[in-house]
Amino acid sequence: MSGLPRNIILTGDAATRLRELPPESVDCVITSPPYYALRDYGHDDQIGLEATVDDWVSGLLPVFRELARVIKPTGGVWLNLGDSFSRHKKYGAPPKGLLLAPERLVIALAADGWLVRNKVIWNKTNPMPSSITDRLTLTYEVVYFLTRSPRYWFDLNAIREPHRSGGGKAAGKAAHGKPTWAGPLAANNEGLRRERPAGQPGHPLGKNPGDVWQVATSSYRGDHPAMFPLGLVRRPLLATCPEAVCTACGQGWKRRYTVRQRWSAKDQEATMVRQPGDFIRCGCAAPTVPGVVLDPFVGTGTVGAVACQNRRDYIGIELNPDYVRLAEKRIREACGSPGPSACPV
Ligand SMILES: C[S@@+](CC[C@H](N)C(=O)[O-])C[C@H]1O[C@@H](n2cnc3c(N)ncnc32)[C@H](O)[C@@H]1O
Repeated sequence: MSGLPRNIILTGDAATRLRELPPESVDCVITSPPYYALRDYGHDDQIGLEATVDDWVSGLLPVFRELARVIKPTGGVWLNLGDSFSRHKKYGAPPKGLLLAPERLVIALAADGWLVRNKVIWNKTNPMPSSITDRLTLTYEVVYFLTRSPRYWFDLNAIREPHRSGGGKAAGKAAHGKPTWAGPLAANNEGLRRERPAGQPGHPLGKNPGDVWQVATSSYRGDHPAMFPLGLVRRPLLATCPEAVCTACGQGWKRRYTVRQRWSAKDQEATMVRQPGDFIRCGCAAPTVPGVVLDPFVGTGTVGAVACQNRRDYIGIELNPDYVRLAEKRIREACGSPGPSACPV
């Protein structure tokens, strides 16, 4: 393969097939590898059924080394992980102990050169009920946001949310500089102060959505035991996969947004609505192509489906050919008719 293939799912092992992709070619990665010892995906070469949790970490590191090679220097990786409880000390923790698999993997990735920019809590609004009586029900998973460099492409305006409160007492009162009790790594509120002119609750385009996301688990009824909900993928995609990338300079374009007031008769109040406008262009007289999101563990193809719905290109890898067929069908269904120009359906 010389150029980057687009809107296709490659069948095979993630690390092996990633080696075929050109360096610095994908804009972002959104993925959920098999969690440790929780599912059997019906293939001898699958990741997830290693003898110990540390072997699972060692098995994923080559995949992430390939991701480090294929992602653009401006790119980001969103990594969804869940944990499991040990049943025997041979797995890496005493029986009943959490294996801390996500923590082990992300510490290994940080040691391997990844910058851990966020740890998002995916708070499931419809968690699996459980009959356990000696610990709490599990209601969240994590989504790590990783980059290769401190500067990367991130479109916060595309994912801002309406402010919940009005200006109120807090507006205009962000701290000037750091308080005397602040330690060397304490947050600096200067940016917030600039965004809060008198009477404004915050940034005029809305607030940063924060790192706790309320999303229901997927309701898709296909023949696969673990799939992303569409709502978990949309925000990472909009923030880190440009809608248009210049073919000359490689710059990802962002949109300008405007806000207008919308009156709600039901709530008897006005809310601010953010609307996308024109692109902020790079200035080259060259055509653009959609940004590309990669998922090396495709499963049912949620990432491809959300990419198509939002006019981004995708590329996926999946070991089990049955799931490849399932994903291709799901992506076709999600695109509807006519599909976005970026999509081959
Ligand atoms: C957690 S599921 C991904 C689900 C996906 N996010 C979705 O929305 O459907 C992990 C997937 O990785 C696949 N897989 C397991 N080992 C693999 C490997 N070595 N290379 C590529 N895919 C693999 C499994 O077959 C499974 O479909």
